[in-house]
Amino acid sequence: MKHKILLVDDRPENLYSLESMLMEDDRIIFKANSGDEALKIAFQEDLSLILLDVQMPEMDGFEVANMLKSTKRTKKIPIVFVTAISKEKKYMLQGLDEGAMDYLFKPLDTDITRSKVNTLLQFFAQQKEIEQKNNELLKLNEEKNFFLGMASHDLRNPLGNIITLSSLISQDIGHNFPDEYKNYLEVIMSTSRRMLEMLNNILDVSKIESGVTTLDLAPISVHDLFQECISCNKLPADKKKIHLSYSIADSTGKPYADKGQILQVLNNLVSNAIKYSHPSTAIELTAEGSSEEITIHIIDQGQGIPESEHKVLFSAFSKTSVRSTAGEGSTGLGLNIVKKIVEAHHGRIWVKSKPGEGSVFPFLFR
Ligand SMILES: Nc1ncnc2c1ncn2[C@@H]1O[C@H](COP(=O)(O)OP(=O)(O)OP(=O)(O)O)[C@@H](O)[C@H]1O
Ligand SMILES: [Mg+2]
Repeated sequence: MKHKILLVDDRPENLYSLESMLMEDDRIIFKANSGDEALKIAFQEDLSLILLDVQMPEMDGFEVANMLKSTKRTKKIPIVFVTAISKEKKYMLQGLDEGAMDYLFKPLDTDITRSKVNTLLQFFAQQKEIEQKNNELLKLNEEKNFFLGMASHDLRNPLGNIITLSSLISQDIGHNFPDEYKNYLEVIMSTSRRMLEMLNNILDVSKIESGVTTLDLAPISVHDLFQECISCNKLPADKKKIHLSYSIADSTGKPYADKGQILQVLNNLVSNAIKYSHPSTAIELTAEGSSEEITIHIIDQGQGIPESEHKVLFSAFSKTSVRSTAGEGSTGLGLNIVKKIVEAHHGRIWVKSKPGEGSVFPFLFR
């Protein structure tokens, strides 16, 4: 690919001397002797670099740069200001504010000019390559999500059959089975339920990442939300004699949010708190803030998480050295989904936790 370089100067003799300095086989040189002409060329051609005279009648170099930087098509083109005006700091800073990458001072030194141009062309080529790779990665990620979404969606039906039919067998004739076979049936049912949970999580991730899910926003009652979350999690909590409670600060208003999705966030955090806590401990949910911004804390007295592992907590499929206390299953997707939902609500989630001191997962949204 040939690099296209635009030289801008109101004096033709300057343009020709620059051209002869920079002309090489792998370059196409364009010349403009006014800001207007420069903009026209810049919008038409895919330029790799612009050398821009600062002092020109009508539109000066700073104005041209400003226009180039405020247009999507041209804003990434590196600009070098070529100037005879004094090397005063304030001019240089103005140029840099307008988006210049560098300065060249007249009279131009051939070696310095060539070397700066070479470096910037290299820089631009690398930047283009990174952008291209990034786009390829985004496309691959989209394909991955599509594939995961399809696979998990289509696997759910046959799995649903296994769950329903094995429960039917267990209910209808299971009591006649020898103990060994009763155990087998239990294993079939519990593993297929775990698999369904996993598939649902994968489907959630792929849906959120591909932007299929939209937020159904309405004012929500935090009180109702906490109540619902506690009743969803009562059974596993009771099994471990874990006490669930909540408190809501008086000032807390009714924030705009997608109730179903925020409930999914709470359920994930509370189910973690139960899963990674020892029996006979307590979990508390708190809320504070206003209708504009609300912060919720999920506080447990569980095992706590070593600081060095905090950074991986919210990545997909990541688990820490902390294990569930009653053999509950885990896919490592819960907190990744939670983070995505919270961020879709323009919020953020973080963790405060130390081994032996329990964990607090605060999250805010607005
Ligand atoms: N409250 C907590 N206390 C201690 N460790 C926790 C807590 N919550 C999460 N963890 C640790 O973080 C890891 C990631 O949690 P995450 O919810 O993403 O996945 P998971 O619970 O393993 O699986 P699932 O996809 O079923 O939620 C867990 O495996 C656990 O090691
Ligand atoms: Mg979890």
